[in-house]
Amino acid sequence: MEKPILEARDLVKSFPGVRALSGVSLLCHPGRVHALLGENGAGKSTLVRILTGNQAADEGELLVDGRPVHPADPREALAYGVTAVYQELTVLPELPVTDNVMLGQESTRRGLLRRGRQHEVAREALKRVGLGDVDPRARAGTLSAAAQQLVEIARALVRGSRVVLLDEPSALLAGDRLDALHSVVRQLTADGVAIIYITHRLEEVAALADDVTVLRDGQVVSSGPAADYPVDRIVREMVGRAVDTVFPTATEPGDEEVFTVRGLIPAGTAGTGFDLTVRAGEIVGVAGLLGSGRSRLLRALAGAERPAQGTISVAGRPVRSSVRAAVAAGVVLVPEERKTEGLVLDLPVRANVTLADLRSVAGGGWLSAAREREAYAKERDRLGIRASGPDQETRQLSGGNQQKIVLAKWLRTRPRVLLLDEPTRGIDIGAKTEIYRIIAELAAEGLAVVFVSSELPEVTGLAHRVLVCRGGQVAGELSGERIDEEHIMHLALGTQEVP
Ligand SMILES: Nc1ncnc2c1ncn2[C@@H]1O[C@H](COP(=O)(O)OP(=O)(O)OP(=O)(O)O)[C@@H](O)[C@H]1O
Ligand SMILES: [Mg+2]
Repeated sequence: MEKPILEARDLVKSFPGVRALSGVSLLCHPGRVHALLGENGAGKSTLVRILTGNQAADEGELLVDGRPVHPADPREALAYGVTAVYQELTVLPELPVTDNVMLGQESTRRGLLRRGRQHEVAREALKRVGLGDVDPRARAGTLSAAAQQLVEIARALVRGSRVVLLDEPSALLAGDRLDALHSVVRQLTADGVAIIYITHRLEEVAALADDVTVLRDGQVVSSGPAADYPVDRIVREMVGRAVDTVFPTATEPGDEEVFTVRGLIPAGTAGTGFDLTVRAGEIVGVAGLLGSGRSRLLRALAGAERPAQGTISVAGRPVRSSVRAAVAAGVVLVPEERKTEGLVLDLPVRANVTLADLRSVAGGGWLSAAREREAYAKERDRLGIRASGPDQETRQLSGGNQQKIVLAKWLRTRPRVLLLDEPTRGIDIGAKTEIYRIIAELAAEGLAVVFVSSELPEVTGLAHRVLVCRGGQVAGELSGERIDEEHIMHLALGTQEVP
């Protein structure tokens, strides 16, 4: 193997109450994809931030081409040829796509390029990440979160880096978009670039990685060629024990019709309206390709988007189309964009956990911090939330742990109808099983559940019934024996009439 471009030696990083990294070493070789794996809070993003000079390590060394370097900020790391796409989107929504792609290049040669030429360079990079149809002059904020993620990857491309660190680049992607990402990664490695790739979608390891490093609690558990890392080994090393993603045995739904939708046409779509009845205890999965209208459907069900047509009722009572009316009727939506739509990052974790359910922590007209702490402790144990304590600022939590907080917040509200958009995105494999169990439990208590997921095993494993979206419409419905990945894919693609 060629000499490493980037090397980390014995990195140590502590935050108040947590040792995020304790002696982590890592090698990045040219032309190879190094998968960095570990549970939520294991220290992956911290390592990325140190490698790019975003944060300073307490101890340890960084070497580029065998020589020690001390990047004080991302700009210096960029000068060594190291760039990162962070877990949090850093796209500036008010700026045109071109400026976002060119971000950080202002002071270099490219900054002097004429505007027209800049758009051209941006368009070229966008094409490479599968965004050939995006107008580089458009405001970045008008793009979907998935497209914004790809804009960040385009940014890494125009920087011509030798080492590219990708922190959960695929979390928001599916289908063609995911394929585009993978082919960009392969292209980069073919050009000799070293890639660090962080993901919770473990099937990507076999598809993409050359090397694997598993972190647990801020330490390297092991490191080696990807061929030696079948999924069960990765999981065992991540979690510290064997875990089967077993789906809970579904209990039979009751007879009571809790959630009734008639003739619904989501705003901005055409065609015939659709009907849906969800009974108490029933779990309905919504599948479909990216952009097939799943999230829009869910938002219409939650009153977050006024539908073009149709009515929704809960336990026989019509619900006006507004979020307030829906919540009052017991319909809650856990959105896909959990961080922006679901959390107050400045508040302590205990406050976020109880935000949607203030009554349970109110005492004598005040919010009781003690009850909040109690509520937090319960959710921490259920979902394996890792924070230094109930009073920690939510902003400081790892990405996946923030996701768990939002889920906990909604799961606590005991609604009648629970709508979930991609409930396990960004969540580690140990906690996924736990989330499935909680969903099944809530259903068994009489809730009606509708969830959107891009992970087919999740849909087939959890749902009593599956709706498949295509082109903004519900293209079909499957139940019982007919729920399998093949039937779902045919409906999603429109390739075959399923009898
Ligand atoms: N600025 C900070 N202040 C305090 N604690 C922090 C800070 N940044 C990270 N931590 C803590 O360091 C630990 C490692 O976090 P990190 O973000 O590196 O995890 P991760 O492996 O990327 O997890 P995920 O898969 O959830 O993204 C966590 O316990 C986190 O709460
Ligand atoms: Mg992270």
